[in-house]
Amino acid sequence: MTSLSDSTSAREASKRPKRALRVLSGTKPTGKNLHLGNYFGALRQFVQLQEEHDTALYFIADYHSMTTVRNGAERRHNTQEVALDYLASGLDPERAILFRQSDLPEVTEMTWILTSIVPMGMLERAHAYKAAMDTGEDVDHGLFTYPVLMAADILLYRSDLVPVGRDQKQHIEMARDMAQRFNRIYETDALVLPEPYILEDTATVVGTDGRKMSKSYGNTISMFGAKGALKKSVMGIVTDSTPVADPKDTNQAVFELWRLFATEAEGEQMFARAEAGGLGYGDIKKDLLARLMDYFEPMRARRAELAKNPKEIEAILCSGAARARELATPVLEACRAAAGLGEPPG
Ligand code: TRP
Repeated sequence: MTSLSDSTSAREASKRPKRALRVLSGTKPTGKNLHLGNYFGALRQFVQLQEEHDTALYFIADYHSMTTVRNGAERRHNTQEVALDYLASGLDPERAILFRQSDLPEVTEMTWILTSIVPMGMLERAHAYKAAMDTGEDVDHGLFTYPVLMAADILLYRSDLVPVGRDQKQHIEMARDMAQRFNRIYETDALVLPEPYILEDTATVVGTDGRKMSKSYGNTISMFGAKGALKKSVMGIVTDSTPVADPKDTNQAVFELWRLFATEAEGEQMFARAEAGGLGYGDIKKDLLARLMDYFEPMRARRAELAKNPKEIEAILCSGAARARELATPVLEACRAAAGLGEPPG
């Protein structure tokens, strides 16, 4: 005798059309100016991926920001800022689906569904949680369960590829694990196992002090910053004290950053000059600043233009939410049906 769940999942599978890969990623609206690490580690990939795949979903993770931002007006403001950042960086709302996480409260139901199958041990091994425990911070439950909400984001839209910085890889592995568990426990194929998509070259951009570029280290170079601020960050890049005439160690932040804005051939030329000696750090920094300005100025101008039109941004987010809902509804229904929640199907 075939069990009810077997026949349900077989029917579901045969109904499901073959589809192109689905890409999804989210950004927390924490109110910091975007920096080069965000751009090369994530945003630039988002823009490329919207061209390469039929469905790309990008959302503003305002629920996630609740573990750190404790002021409603601030969250709204930050959310708007992230929308501007995405759009200014080349995200095309006609191609990609740009939406606000909390416009689909369905994701919190998905979170509960996953919460009840995720082992405590898995969450206790999460890097972010362990780090918070190590520093003796007060840890709230939101931080502990953060990876489950993130898994819900990913699984709710049957995402195949999740472009993120390397620091998020563990979260995606956890999402895979949760999907697999849910499917196994409820004998369904309702959830799709996602893959992290990490651009190895630039996934970790070096900061001005040689450590990973990160808001928390205060070593960032802003993406939309005014020239004065950019100049200050660039001139502040830490270098060793090799005299101008001597050969330089090209394994330094200033060279690594410069290379982000240069072709392969230019890079080789520069490295040859550096190794020959006679190249001053001041000159490299000046050139880096000029390249940075050229690269980001068009985006900065577009952002300023968009910022004048908050109604238009809101309309983009609302239409994004409607499109996201079309994708989420059948997935949540399949999960509810498999888990025996709500009205019996049929
Ligand atoms: N945790 C991610 C970050 O801090 C943001 C995020 C939330 C996310 N949900 C996601 C990223 C889903 C990718 C997919 O950067």
